[in-house]
Amino acid sequence: MDIINEIKDFVEKECRKPSSRYGYEPFPFHFVPMASYAEKLADELGGDKEIILIACWLHDIGSIVHGREDHHITGARIAEEKLKEFQYPEERIELVKKCILNHRSSQENGRDSIEEQIVAEADAMSNFDNIAGIFKAAFVYEDKDQGEAKDSARKKLEQKWNRLHFEKSKEMIKSKFEAAMLLLK
Ligand SMILES: [Fe+2]
Repeated sequence: MDIINEIKDFVEKECRKPSSRYGYEPFPFHFVPMASYAEKLADELGGDKEIILIACWLHDIGSIVHGREDHHITGARIAEEKLKEFQYPEERIELVKKCILNHRSSQENGRDSIEEQIVAEADAMSNFDNIAGIFKAAFVYEDKDQGEAKDSARKKLEQKWNRLHFEKSKEMIKSKFEAAMLLLK
């Protein structure tokens, strides 16, 4: 069984459900680029790729199913249930859960493994592939006007850039960061 693809399919199906809090869009526009960055970082920096990729696909599942609030906690719970169904080893489930619990910037100080750091890093990097999504959040979910949306998009991307942990990530994102700053200043 290919556990990574099983989990990816599960998440895609959850995103396709009418009950998905943010519709189907997070799947192609957030999870797919995030997993691709995570894979590249794991190739460069190491870490257990299976843990990293399972955690990438599942990191926002709590948000899809229950909404953003405490989605690191609700997500870790859903991940545990799902991985148990696949008889995934208990100690590896714990590693995936740690990545999900500590992926948010508010949980930055709790990270102590390369896997957790790569998941959080790829999450931040994926924002640079989804400027449309940042604007959608500003207009649709936060009810901002154009000026406010532009300011908040710039600030958000600056903050993501400043919090990048690895030189490698900065190298991968630099041209997109600079292009975004040029367009949003
Ligand atoms: Fe995310």
